[in-house]
Amino acid sequence: MREGDIPRAAELLRSGGLVVFPTETVYGVGAHALDPRAAARIFEVKGRPRFDPLIVHLAGLEGIDAVVAELPEAAVRLAERFWPGPLTLVLKKTARVPDLVTAGHDTVAVRVPRHPIAQALLRAAGIPVAAPSANRFGGVSPTRAEHVTLEVDMILDGGPCAVGVESTIVSLAGPQPILLRPGGLPLEAIEAVVGAVEVPPEDALRTLAPGRQTRHYAPGTTLTLESDPKPGPGRWGLLCLQPPADPAGWAQVEVLSPTGDLTEAATHLFAALRRLDAAGLEHIVAQPVPEHGLGRAIMDRLRRAAAGR
Ligand code: TXA
Ligand code: MG
Repeated sequence: MREGDIPRAAELLRSGGLVVFPTETVYGVGAHALDPRAAARIFEVKGRPRFDPLIVHLAGLEGIDAVVAELPEAAVRLAERFWPGPLTLVLKKTARVPDLVTAGHDTVAVRVPRHPIAQALLRAAGIPVAAPSANRFGGVSPTRAEHVTLEVDMILDGGPCAVGVESTIVSLAGPQPILLRPGGLPLEAIEAVVGAVEVPPEDALRTLAPGRQTRHYAPGTTLTLESDPKPGPGRWGLLCLQPPADPAGWAQVEVLSPTGDLTEAATHLFAALRRLDAAGLEHIVAQPVPEHGLGRAIMDRLRRAAAGR
C-alpha cells in the first residue's frame, strides 16, 4: 500500500471500476452497488451466474437506509454488537438496489467489514460497495492478495486475512432469524444476542441462499472427508486440525492449528487447501473438525469442497 492508494481506489469505485480489497474474512472484489453496469462487471470477471446475489458493504450502520427498507429490532441489536465484523444480514431492500445485485430478490445482504483498509476505502468512496470473494466462481476464496488472479482495475494488498473464512450470513427478512451460511462469527455469539437461530437443511438453502450450491471452495485435486484418514497408493495429502499420530505415507500434511484451536484453524484453512492443490497430489483427505465455534464454518467449506466427488 502506498500513499494515495485509498483515494485512487475510491475514485475507481465511484466511477464504475473494479477494486480488490482486503476484509478481515477474505479478499473481496468490489464495485459500485447502485450502478448496475459496474456490478455486472463483477459477474463477468468471476464467471459468476446471475442467480447468485452479492453482499453490499457499508462503512457503518449510518448509510444503511439507502439500501435497506426495514431494519427490525434484532438487526439493530446484532449490528450494534458485531459491526464492524464478520456478520452479514439479509434484510428487505430499497428500490435503489439494482435487481442485478440481489438476483431479483426483494432482500439485500449487507455487511460492515472491520479491516482498516476496507473501512478506509468505504469511507473514502462514500457509496455502498457490492463485493463477493475475489475468486473465480466455485473456487477457493483468497486470504492473501497473491491468491487473486482476477482481471481488475486495482488490487489493495493488506496482507493475510485475520479471520480466513467468509462472514456468517443471517436472514432477518422473515419472522425468525435463519442461518444462511456459517462463517467468521460463531453462531453461539449470535444466539446469545437474538436467541435461537433456525439452521435450515441443505436442500432448503438452495432457495433461501442462492449461490450456496453444494460444490464450492473446491480445489482441482479430488478431496474426501474421512475421520480415520489413511494414505492411499501414490502421492496423497492430508489436511488435519492437529499433527497426525503417524505422518508416514503422506506426501504432504497440512496442520491447521497445532493446539487444536478452531479460530486459528479457520485462518489457515484456504491457504492450506491451496498449498495441497498446488503440490501435484493424486488425492487430498481432510479430517473432520469439531462443529462448534468456527468449526461449523470450517466443516461447511470442507463438505462443499468434497461434494460431487
Ligand atoms: O466475508 C464475506 O462475506 C466476503 C467478503 C468479501 O465480504 N464476501 C462473500 O461474498 O463471501 P460471496 O459473494 O462469496 O457470498 C455471497 C453469498 C451468496 O452466494 C448468497 O448465498 C448470499 O451471500 N446472499 C447474498 N444476497 C442474498 C440474499 N438477498 N438472500 C440470500 N442470500 C444472499
Ligand atoms: Mg464466494
